[in-house]
Amino acid sequence: MKKLIGVKKVNTAIFISGTGTNLKNLIKFSLSKKSPIRISLIISNNKKAKGLDYAKKFRIRKKVYNYKNKKIEKLILKDLKKDNIKFICLAGFMKILSKYFINNFYGKIINIHPSLLPKYKGLNTYERVIQNKEKTSGCTVHYVNSKLDGGKIILQKKIRVYKKDSAESLRKRILKDEHRLYPKAILKVFSP
Ligand code: GRF
Repeated sequence: MKKLIGVKKVNTAIFISGTGTNLKNLIKFSLSKKSPIRISLIISNNKKAKGLDYAKKFRIRKKVYNYKNKKIEKLILKDLKKDNIKFICLAGFMKILSKYFINNFYGKIINIHPSLLPKYKGLNTYERVIQNKEKTSGCTVHYVNSKLDGGKIILQKKIRVYKKDSAESLRKRILKDEHRLYPKAILKVFSP
C-alpha cells in the first residue's frame, strides 16, 4: 500500500448504503492537503441513500448498483478499473463483498465498524453492547477480508459506556469518534 503514495493522490471510491456522514467527513478530509486519497467515485447499492446527495454537492461521480443482479460485482469491478480506482473505503455499506471481489482489491479495501472488534461483529452492535452491560465500546477501522468484520485492524478508538446510555446515545457518541478515526486510519495506511 505504501508504494501507492506519490505526488498524486490515490484514486478512491467510497461505498455507502445510507446517511453518509462518514462519506461527508471523508470527502472533507480528502480535500485537505495532507490527504493521500482523492475521492473520485461514490458507489451505493441503494438509490435512496441520503449520502448520495453529497455526490452533487461536492461534484463527485456516483453510481448505484442493483445487488439483486448476481453478476453485479463483475460489473462494478469493470467500472472501478475503467475509472482507475486504486483504493476503496466502505462507509456504512450494507452488502457483503464476495471473496472474488475482495481478491481483486486485496489489501486495498478498508471499512469502519462501530464496535471494538473482534467484539460485536455484524449488525445491531449498540443494542448488544447495552444488553450485555459492557463498560466500554468504540469503533474500529480495519482491512476487509473474506471474513465478516474480520480483517486486520488498522486503528481503534475506545469509549466508556455509561449506565444511562441507550443504543441511540451510544450510536451518536461512537459516530463522532468514527469521524475522527477514519481519516487517521487512512493516514496510517499510507504513511511511509
Ligand atoms: C457507521 O456507524 C459505520 O460504522 C457503520 O455504518 C454506519 C454508517 O453511518 N458501518 P454513516 O452512513 O456514515 O452516517
